[in-house]
Amino acid sequence: MAALDQAETPDADTREIGDVLLRVDRISLYFGGVRALNNISFEVREHEILAIIGPNGAGKSSMLNVINGFYHPQEGTITYRGKTRSRMRPYQAAAQGIARTFQNIALFKGMSTLDNIMTGRLLKMHQPFWMQALYWGPAQREEIEHRKFCEEIIDFLEIQHIRKTPVGRLPYGLQKRVELGRALAAQPTLLLLDEPMAGMNVEEKEDMCRFILDINEEFGTTIALIEHDMGVVMDISDRVVVLDYGRKLADGPPDSVRSDPAVVSAYLGVGHD
Ligand SMILES: Nc1ncnc2c1ncn2[C@@H]1O[C@H](COP(=O)(O)OP(=O)(O)OP(=O)(O)O)[C@@H](O)[C@H]1O
Ligand SMILES: [Mg+2]
Repeated sequence: MAALDQAETPDADTREIGDVLLRVDRISLYFGGVRALNNISFEVREHEILAIIGPNGAGKSSMLNVINGFYHPQEGTITYRGKTRSRMRPYQAAAQGIARTFQNIALFKGMSTLDNIMTGRLLKMHQPFWMQALYWGPAQREEIEHRKFCEEIIDFLEIQHIRKTPVGRLPYGLQKRVELGRALAAQPTLLLLDEPMAGMNVEEKEDMCRFILDINEEFGTTIALIEHDMGVVMDISDRVVVLDYGRKLADGPPDSVRSDPAVVSAYLGVGHD
């Protein structure tokens, strides 16, 4: 799957694994009187799998929404690939190589798996809209290339059998996989996954873990994921950030976070849905 590789990104060759890819610096986000994020700072390093954990309402999804420009924090900055910003639009984040999946699946339910994944390529299409509409000349050649690329993603995610199926007819676990495919179609440098395994059975979770690890290893993609299943978090993440009521409780390798007394009392000891 060389085509999915990160070689296209401009400075992929010059960055070393372990450099800071994204820095969250003193971010605060309020919704009226609710402080969803309170002075949060952490780093995402090139090529790592970072897990963001915490109880319901801790601010995890809000954090991803700040990183990819859906929410604009009242305080603090995000530095991504050396560029600092306090606000940005989602399409700008996408153009800079940040792709994501959502806690509540956001797919076009009436469209096929392949067509949904194709929507993830839109930012990569260069031919003008009128040429694409006429499906003419260079636009036709371009679309064929994009389709080929998306077929590779479909093979990679082992969803060939549902490539023509409208996603609204698919079971939840497969819809999650299609959404991952759409995010991959953008060839992201940073992939944000909001509860990619929620609602899945054990077998589906194992498959999803394998895909996440393969994406990270084979394509060098940096991954920040929100996950409630602590077994999964401990198994696949390089580092863990723990949020609790908008505050950061801990940040470090899984083992040290797991034994952190503040984390144990606030989160790990508490049951979850
Ligand atoms: N768009 C919004 N408008 C108002 N309040 C919001 C909005 N988004 C999030 N919040 C509030 O911010 C807080 C953090 O919510 P967030 O969704 O980030 O938590 P979470 O850690 O992702 O929780 P969960 O595990 O349930 O998904 C909550 O109190 C939530 O009600
Ligand atoms: Mg959430």
